[in-house]
Amino acid sequence: MKEQIIQLIATVADLDQETVANLLEIPPKADMGDYAFPCFQLAKTLRKAPPMIAAEIAEKITDVEILDHVEVKGAYVNFFLKKEMFVKSMIEQEDVDNFGSSTIGEGKTICIDYSSPNVAKNFHVGHLRTTIIGNSLYKIYSKLGYKVERINHLGDWGTQFGKLIVAYKSWGSKEAVEKDGVAELMRLYVKFHEEAEKDDSLNDQAREWFNQMEQGNQEALEIWQWFVDISLKEYKGTYELLNMEFDHYLGESFYRDKTADVVKRLQDAGLLKESQGAQIVDLEEYDMAPCLITKKDGSSIYATRDLAAIFYRKERWNFEKCLYVTGQEQKLHFAQVFKVVELLGNDWAKDSLVHIPYGLVSLEGAKLSTRSGNIIYAEDILLEAIDKVTGIIAEKNPDLADQDEVAKIVGVGAIIFHDLYNQRIKDVSFKWDKVLNFDGETGPYVQYTYCRCASILRTVSYDENADIDYSLLLDEEAIALIREINRFPEVVLDAAERYEPSVVARFAMDVAQSFSRFYNACRVNVEDEKLRNARAKLVALTKKTLKDALDLLGIQCPEQM
Ligand code: ARG
Repeated sequence: MKEQIIQLIATVADLDQETVANLLEIPPKADMGDYAFPCFQLAKTLRKAPPMIAAEIAEKITDVEILDHVEVKGAYVNFFLKKEMFVKSMIEQEDVDNFGSSTIGEGKTICIDYSSPNVAKNFHVGHLRTTIIGNSLYKIYSKLGYKVERINHLGDWGTQFGKLIVAYKSWGSKEAVEKDGVAELMRLYVKFHEEAEKDDSLNDQAREWFNQMEQGNQEALEIWQWFVDISLKEYKGTYELLNMEFDHYLGESFYRDKTADVVKRLQDAGLLKESQGAQIVDLEEYDMAPCLITKKDGSSIYATRDLAAIFYRKERWNFEKCLYVTGQEQKLHFAQVFKVVELLGNDWAKDSLVHIPYGLVSLEGAKLSTRSGNIIYAEDILLEAIDKVTGIIAEKNPDLADQDEVAKIVGVGAIIFHDLYNQRIKDVSFKWDKVLNFDGETGPYVQYTYCRCASILRTVSYDENADIDYSLLLDEEAIALIREINRFPEVVLDAAERYEPSVVARFAMDVAQSFSRFYNACRVNVEDEKLRNARAKLVALTKKTLKDALDLLGIQCPEQM
């Protein structure tokens, strides 16, 4: 219908369709019409006052099938569509399986580098954010037809592993590591630093062990691999709770034999400079600190491995974009690395490599169970959420089927939704009352709305395939809901363009709230069969849209809760 309006304006105002399409707006309020055409910009070329142009356009529009009427308001021509036809056209768009998807990404690949915890360290709440945001971006881009490679760039290489080997050999035991896993490895790491303060020779030993790892010493690599396996097992437990997966676990260690090539490329391009024994790329010209490439002892660092990873990924997947989801504190690191890639003559680096930062998590007055001190394990938060929901279900709906499964979906969904509801760059403050409030702007509220839709459709008898009489869906609340749902395709595009899952989370909330207003105003289980069918159709569309939107966030929907 939008197309028809554009054509109409183009004809009567003698403009090309593209100009009209760019100007045409959707007014913020329904009483301003379904579409509005502003005439300010035409004043110059037509040499007339905008309100006059608007009046002339309106005058020439008579008797158009889809239009109820037009109105001139200042410099705007407001178009009021025949409601029934408008509703019909929107519902027809919404009533397809792949509503919200697109093919704009077909044939293109996006790499997303996210989660990427550091081996032998706990998977903390910060890693939870990158995991949740990265997974949602994966879903959003997939919906637009892109092929997405989900990459876990584990922090599994570096001098810290030399320290850990020394600590393990001095104060550790196989049993303790096997029993307590990452927590024990962290204890050993802390112990190393305490002891090294008193005895500097420990640092030399640590360097030597890492050196051995880099040289391929079997004993060193066996211990290291064991640390990796133990850590990965714990991380995978967290991913399982979240119901999230990766296509590739390619940690930093994967690039250890690929960094020499990076150094050579930089050397050949004349970009390497010596500075106090280390090799750097000077970035002063770009207002950045130099990018360190190799240390005094010749070993590579985090940035070197990131450079190697970029070339590897470009070669293997020829990505359109490679996205990095990490905290803001790594902003400079990525700016440096991306610049170095560009300086090597890769123009694509400018648009293709994108750092996606996010804010901090604070635990405002929240009492969280912790295993040691104030280190917050992501898994503990997820388990606590599930536990709390289990309690709520036992109290409010003790006869519910599959309680464990529902508690998991709702508890984990609450955490994910809370994380994604505000712009990612904002800090997240965590309060259980807020996260789990079933009436607030929360994941459980949206899931609950979904369950209400499911329950209505289970209990009301209606004909799924009946022809809908669209004139029965003209209540203000019904139209508002249909309009809201209709935004879905734009919402997905917008979220992808801005790497911003919160756009989808807000949309899910808007649909849920709009549904509540509809349901309060319009009973579904009415005598009149036609009215029942029409309203049930709208319930079914809401249900499908809520499920699809939550899926883009990585949240599942129970049928009952
Ligand atoms: N392991 C890093 C950390 O925990 C994040 C890695 C991000 N990805 C990358 N390619 N550098 O801070």
